This record gives sequence, C-alpha cells and structure tokens, in this order.
Amino acid sequence: MKILVIHGPNLNMLGKRDKSIYGERTLDEINALLKKEGKALNVEVMTFQSNHEGALIDFIQEQADSAQGIIINPGALTHYGFSLLDALADSKLPVIEVHLSNVYRREEWRARSVIAPVAEGQISGLGWRGYITALQVLASKLKAKPSR
Ligand code: DQA
Repeated sequence: MKILVIHGPNLNMLGKRDKSIYGERTLDEINALLKKEGKALNVEVMTFQSNHEGALIDFIQEQADSAQGIIINPGALTHYGFSLLDALADSKLPVIEVHLSNVYRREEWRARSVIAPVAEGQISGLGWRGYITALQVLASKLKAKPSR
C-alpha cells in the first residue's frame, strides 16, 4: 500500500519559518518521521514538496494510479488552489488535509479551505503530529476497506 504525502508552497522552509506557529521541525525531519511510521504500519510513504501548484498537480497525476491515498498540506493553496482541488478530486483517492497551525485561530482568510470538500477529514493545529495521526487513520481505513 502506498500513501502520498504532499506538501505545498513554503513548507520547505519549516524549521526557519515562524517557529511559534509552525514548530521547530524541518520538513526533512517530518518526512523521516512519516517514513518511520509508515514502516511500522507496513505502508510505503512517498513524500513530495513543491512551491508550484502545477508541479503538485503533475505529481498527483503521475502517482495517483499507483497509490491508495493522499495526505496533503496545501499551504496557502488551501485557500485558493482550485486547480489543485480538481487534481485531488480527479485522483479519486481518499484525501486527508493537514495543517500544522490551527487555521481557525488565525487570520479570517485562513479559515476557508477550498480543498476541504474533497477531503475525508482535516487535521489542523496539532503540529507535525497531525501528519502522523493522518497516516495512522488513513492506513487503518484503507486496511479495513482495501478498495477505492
Ligand atoms: C498551513 C496554513 C496555511 O494557511 C499557510 O499558508 C501555510 C501552512 C499550515 O500548515 O498551518 O503555508 O497550511
């Protein structure tokens, strides 16, 4: 079973970006923790980050047929990324949306997600642990019901 973990714009700057909001861990550290958890769950975790919406879409289109689920932190594309939304919908894969920060406790515009309607669920405000929880939940759901 393969799960794609996709990180959108500016998430390559984790560890340098405002640590009081996004935490101390770098993206490499978070990806390593996800791969470790994937091993424990017997799930292949494939990670990808881009600052470009088109590159995120290309990745989803290329990988969707060989994957069973998607975990995505779309960064600011959460709030206006309609092409990304379409690509996620077209993938027909179950999607979990993750945010490191609590987007409902910040600026008003961050409380709107255009991605949420295609997501099975959303985790917001739990830092890097949100990704691990998303992986555990998605793997468990997929194992319970292996088909799309
Ligand atoms: C974010 C929240 C977004 O509003 C922001 O643009 C990000 C990161 C989060 O993980 O909390 O880049 O998705």
